[in-house]
Amino acid sequence: MPKDKIFQETVTRVEKPSSHFILLRAPNGDFLGASDDGFATFDYVDDKAIWDTVEGTDTYRHVATGLVVEVESPRSKDGGYLRHQGKWLASNGTVGDVAALFSSGHGPAHLPSEYLKSIRENGWVCVPSIIALDVLEELERISCTGRWESGAFDQSVAPLLQSAAVAKIATEPVSLWLMRQYMGIDEIRLGHSPGFAILPKDDGKRNVQGWHSDFPYLWGIAGRATHRIPVHKVDGLVMGVQRNLCVSEFRKENGATCFKLGSHARGEGPPVEWGTGNANKEPGHREAKGLPYTGPEADVVEAPPGSYIVYDSRTWHRAGVNRTPHKRAAMLQAVIPMFMMPFKDTSRVYKEFINGPFVEALTDLEKRELEALMVNRMIGPAGHLAITVDDELTERIRPD
Ligand SMILES: [Fe+2]
Repeated sequence: MPKDKIFQETVTRVEKPSSHFILLRAPNGDFLGASDDGFATFDYVDDKAIWDTVEGTDTYRHVATGLVVEVESPRSKDGGYLRHQGKWLASNGTVGDVAALFSSGHGPAHLPSEYLKSIRENGWVCVPSIIALDVLEELERISCTGRWESGAFDQSVAPLLQSAAVAKIATEPVSLWLMRQYMGIDEIRLGHSPGFAILPKDDGKRNVQGWHSDFPYLWGIAGRATHRIPVHKVDGLVMGVQRNLCVSEFRKENGATCFKLGSHARGEGPPVEWGTGNANKEPGHREAKGLPYTGPEADVVEAPPGSYIVYDSRTWHRAGVNRTPHKRAAMLQAVIPMFMMPFKDTSRVYKEFINGPFVEALTDLEKRELEALMVNRMIGPAGHLAITVDDELTERIRPD
């Protein structure tokens, strides 16, 4: 393909938001919200838990109801006591004489219901700049990208065991709520421990990723028949979503993911002539056949750093080509309903995490969420059973 005919994908740009809502956390990490019945705390974030600052005052306004709370002490990292019409808010949100310390933190730029509407209509959504800047810089540090580009990423240790920031982004509440709603099930889990995808500058020769659908569908990728869901068209059942965090800003030039937006609804994998997952891995493929399809039928989603791009796992996509001198980083998470088998064992990494130092940085709610996301379970007559890898049986089934 002539050089001027490549990289013709259609760009969809999600701008950096000019402002963000606020989330107010109780001491156990639950979120303060309100409904027609008054204040309450919730272990999830939907529109009920969204607050706005009232400029020039120490006051927060609840977006859905208009209720206001005043912050008693100056806003600090540790939070403040909240008062409504002269009464204190307790840790469960009840109004009375008992005060609790609530912390305020970075929230979404739009209401969660707007993101849900968008993913239901389009099969994908970007939740822009949802991750707080200090958490994001931690991810740059351990991935050795952005402000920390000069280092070398340690691939020998799971990212979850390198910084509390990974557990923080894995338990980010807006995207969790969104995925639960989109898949229609509260019990969701990670298909693998969160992993970095770091794309260096392209050298014009190396093979690039071909078009595919993500786990658990894996359409366009041969050779993984034990994990793949057979190609089918069923409306209303979603067996996986992909939640990718843009650690770096995602731009066409630095290899932002290329999609065929809307393809999740087709009930089929990407066309072979677009260059699918496997063919593009064969040695010398790029030199012989060129890049996978980069024409205008494909889409590139550009997004600011700290954004979650959440898409139906059936959506055809591939990594872009990085034409800048700087590495581009993302943190990838395949998320599935509890009834699906995970791609990789997450229980061992989780056990190491809870026995390590970073667990202490999590709230009680974040600890519960991470456990729910990483421990697969059977619930039956024998009670709750955690499913994990059995070494003896693993040895037995290994091919000679
Ligand atoms: Fe993928």
